[in-house]
Formats: sequence, C-alpha cells, structure tokens
Amino acid sequence: MQHAAITGWGKCLPPAVLTNQDLATFLPTDDEWITTRTGMKERRISHVPGIELAIVASERALACAGLRGEDIDLVIYGSCSNDEAVPNSASGVQQRIGATRAAAFDVNTACTSFMYGLSIGTSMIRSGVARNVLVIGVELISQYMDWDNRNVAVLFGDGAAAVVLTATDREEGVLAEKLQCYADSRQILRVRGMGTMYANLGVPFGQTRWDFDGQEIFRKAVQGMSEASIDVLQRSGFSIDDVALVVPHQANLRIIEAVAKRAGASMDKVFLTVQKYGNMSSATAPVALVEAVESGRVAPGALVLMPAFGGGLTLSSHLIRWGQRTTPLGTTAIDLPPCERTALEIVNGIRAQKVTGHEEAECFLTLGYAEQQARG
Ligand SMILES: CC(C)(COP(=O)(O)OP(=O)(O)OC[C@H]1O[C@@H](n2cnc3c(N)ncnc32)[C@H](O)[C@@H]1OP(=O)(O)O)[C@@H](O)C(=O)NCCC(=O)NCCS
Repeated sequence: MQHAAITGWGKCLPPAVLTNQDLATFLPTDDEWITTRTGMKERRISHVPGIELAIVASERALACAGLRGEDIDLVIYGSCSNDEAVPNSASGVQQRIGATRAAAFDVNTACTSFMYGLSIGTSMIRSGVARNVLVIGVELISQYMDWDNRNVAVLFGDGAAAVVLTATDREEGVLAEKLQCYADSRQILRVRGMGTMYANLGVPFGQTRWDFDGQEIFRKAVQGMSEASIDVLQRSGFSIDDVALVVPHQANLRIIEAVAKRAGASMDKVFLTVQKYGNMSSATAPVALVEAVESGRVAPGALVLMPAFGGGLTLSSHLIRWGQRTTPLGTTAIDLPPCERTALEIVNGIRAQKVTGHEEAECFLTLGYAEQQARG
C-alpha cells in the first residue's frame, strides 16, 4: 500500500507582533483577562496578502523536501480567508512556485482546512493520482476581524505553514484520521459580511461582524477534539501512551488542557504555540507541527496526534507517523518584504477602513515581491 510521508515542512509568520497591551488601547480588555482566559500573550498581524505568506511557507517546505515546484502534482490551499475567490488561491501559489504540472484547489473547512487538506492529499497519493502533494494552511484573519468586538478580536492572528507529502512504501504520514462536522451548530460561529448573501441583507461586503457563542464553541471543541482523538486511537490500535506528542489546534489554552485530560495525555506531551500566535485558524496546527519539528520535539518515527476544530463546526483528529528525517534537506533565502508598520498601526488601518469602507485592501497591504514583478 502507498503511504504519504511528510518529507518537507515550512512556516511563515508575519513579523508584526500585536500584544495584549496593544489590544487594550482600543478594546475594553486587559492582559490579565486575556492571559488567564485564553493563554494568549501575542499574535501576528500580516502586512502582506495571505497568498504571500503561503508562498514563503511553501518554498521553505519544498526546499526542506529537496524538491522543486515542477515536482509537485497537486497544490491544496487550506483557508477561509482567501485573497480572492476566482481564480482560486491554490493556482496563485502553483504559478509562483513553478508547479507547472500540478493540479490545484482550495479547501475551506475554517480552522480545520489544513487538516482536511492533509487527508485529501494523503488519499490522492494512496490512490495513485499524485506522488508529491503540497498542503498549505494559511489565514489572514486580521482583514475580516471584528476588531471592535472584544469577544473575538483578542483570539486570532495571521500566519501560514505548508507540508510536502511524498509517496512511500514505508508506513509513514497519516495512519488514521477522523473527520466530522457538527452542522446543527453551524450558526454559533458565523462571520457576517463574508460571502455574497450578505449584500442582499444590506451588509456591504467586507463590513464583517462576527456571531460567536464562545462558551458553546468551547464545549463543542472539547467534546469534538477529545472524542475524535479517542476514536482514532481505538481504530488504529494505538493507545495515548504510544503517542509521543500531541499537536492540537490552538484556540484557547483551557480547551487544549481539557482535551488533553479527556484523551489521557499529560500536558508535557502537548506542544503549545497559543501564547505567542493565538488562533491562526487553518494555519494554527501546521505552524505548531513545523515548530515542534524545528525545536526537536519530534523524534524519528514518532507518533503525533493532531486534534483540530473550527467553524462549521468541523472537527478532526489525525494520527501521524513521522519519518526518519527530522532535519531539512535544503533551505531557501525567500522571505517576506520588510514590514514598515507596527501591528497596532496595521490593525488601526483596518479599523479605519471599516468605518469609511472606501479604500482598497492594497492601500494597507504591502504587495509581495513576485506580485510586484507580475504587475511590472
Ligand atoms: C471566548 C472565550 C475566551 C471566553 O471565555 P469565557 O471564560 O467563556 O468567558 P465568558 O464568555 O464567560 O465571558 C466572561 C466575561 O468576560 C467578558 N469578556 C469577553 N471577552 C473579554 C475580553 N477580551 N476582555 C475582557 N472581558 C471579556 C464577557 O463580556 C463576560 O462579561 P460578563 O460576565 O460581564 O458578561 C472562550 O469561551 C473560548 O475560548 N471559546 C472558544 C472560542 C474559539 O476559540 N472559537 C474558535 C474555534 S476554532
């Protein structure tokens, strides 16, 4: 049987850091509340479009795998905050990394988009449709955040990560997964103003307001991630003691602690990024996975459990066998263009735009180098 090993990994975090103190300059909140209720201290705010984050992460993952764009058969772009709907975002990455032979499509299951993409990419390799697949998780949540709503504005940040999946006979990559959706609760996490139906309801596109039942999402997230993890372990014949590291979606430290407890994992087995990046939606789990590998927390052949949860309400858990290599085959010099503004300045720009609604997004996003070249 063909398996889909993770042979390349890369991340891209925008450099501008938004602290809890920054948020308290325009919201009725404080560092103590955010830290004790969520575990978050900082998050990143992007000065470039989401696709630029995705391209840098993808080039790093390709270099890590020792592959070039033309080796890739399929690009999967997991996101719910695409820069544009048509053409799709995956084709934009495909063009810029030179994946001339590849197929490309976007996946949106909100925060679990990367994890669902990982399942699809693995299936494509198992069925012989593709040998090398690039799976991306990327979000530019800052652009559609409801910045004057303290219930949600403190929780999210921007970022991207990507992995390369490669066909192998060795039993590596995704060993088992559970995918599910609590569609009856889909209305408890809703972004008004993103999507065509809102124009008919008198909400101008981009004037986003979030419907967000935090406590109910919290309960469903704990239930979904822990039950999916227990299910995956039972079906694969492993126990939580066999798992070397849990790399969960990071929406709230208290959610992660509750999931770990229910799944029987001690917190020293859980890899955390929530304190420095917050919830980056679909980028969260892959960024954490990349950081876990980079910081030496993933040993050759280790079993990694990745529970995730998102709007929809989608949920998932993946049991992954890491390969023998934990270091990159190569590196790349690619990076984002410099950021001239603070995170707070970028956020205040977005807030001001929401009031006037006239400026175009490019007015406060720095275009990436390749986009500038494409425009001549
Ligand atoms: C949102 C969340 C952090 C709120 O934490 P909580 O402990 O449930 O807090 P509550 O909702 O009970 O609110 C407690 C109080 O804090 C207030 N509060 C909410 N956000 C606040 C903030 N940023 N700063 C200060 N106070 C805040 C509330 O208004 C409420 O005040 P009240 O008691 O006067 O009404 C938590 O429910 C959560 O993480 N939910 C999951 C959300 C999520 O991540 N969704 C994405 C899924 S991928």
